[in-house]
Amino acid sequence: MKTKNTADASSAVDDFRERINKETCINLDFGYLNGAIESWWMRNNHQPTHVLKFQLLSFFQTYLRSEDTLYFDKVGLADEGVAAVCIKNIFRLDSPKLALAAHEALAELFYLTDIKYDYEEHKALYLKPSAEQYKEWGNGYGDITPHSDDLYENMHIDYLALTVCRDTTHTPTTYYFPRDLIDNLSDDELETLLTMQAIFTSGKNVNGFKERIRNIVTYDPLYGYQFSLDFRIDQHCGERMRALNGGQHVLDKMRAGIAHARHHVSTAQTGTFLIMANHKILHARPTLNISVDTARKHSATPTLSTTPRLLFRSKGPRKYYYPLDESLAS
Ligand SMILES: [Fe+2]
Repeated sequence: MKTKNTADASSAVDDFRERINKETCINLDFGYLNGAIESWWMRNNHQPTHVLKFQLLSFFQTYLRSEDTLYFDKVGLADEGVAAVCIKNIFRLDSPKLALAAHEALAELFYLTDIKYDYEEHKALYLKPSAEQYKEWGNGYGDITPHSDDLYENMHIDYLALTVCRDTTHTPTTYYFPRDLIDNLSDDELETLLTMQAIFTSGKNVNGFKERIRNIVTYDPLYGYQFSLDFRIDQHCGERMRALNGGQHVLDKMRAGIAHARHHVSTAQTGTFLIMANHKILHARPTLNISVDTARKHSATPTLSTTPRLLFRSKGPRKYYYPLDESLAS
């Protein structure tokens, strides 16, 4: 017969499994708009990027079908279960200025508050100098292991969004639900995961060094279960996530299962926007699908118009709209 403590732990694990199994991703196609966006672009591309962003915001609010606006305020919330939205065919023209304007407009519509740190160039992702020597780096050539962003930061980063301006390497972003990385864990190991902490450290992306301790799993009534997981191994700093007081064997077992874990794939095509709840999805990328010599050539003298793969990125907390106390307003 189970003791009360054992039964409580077992029902907590069951509740955990049930809730995280409800998380989904949504795929949308804005192809019905891209002709009109191109006409607008031809008339307005001389405008500054911030003006283009606000024009596109208005355009989306006016012309999007209602079913394509349903998820703007819902990504990452427990009740909705939508952990990621991938939109393709937003535009077809390969223009960094258009891609950045569309990216910023959609990030705004999805409640993302982008954060710029002084020590990180985070906005444009492309092959930067010495890229061919690096993996686990968004501007590098090599593969990137599943992780959530900025776990070493004080701030809680709710969202990560990526827009493809160009990808002639055909190397899509991949993303993983945590449930697919815990498939091989026993109930005892899951209980350990639910209560353990880890220390997270910065990598090559940060100029300097930062670290923070976090619970691997947290629960919040608004957001549901959220995860802090980073399986990257930095060439200089080593493992980006280390168990703090036990549980490393659980993280190691999850890492061992990554190669065969079920995962989703974005679209490596101009005009794709992917937004994910940073603590409900882990993102990754294989080695770029070009030769190391080609990568070296492009990284030596990179330009936004010639680099073979150019993505724009935003990451930050969910935008908070302060509710007015209407009893005081009249
Ligand atoms: Fe990342």
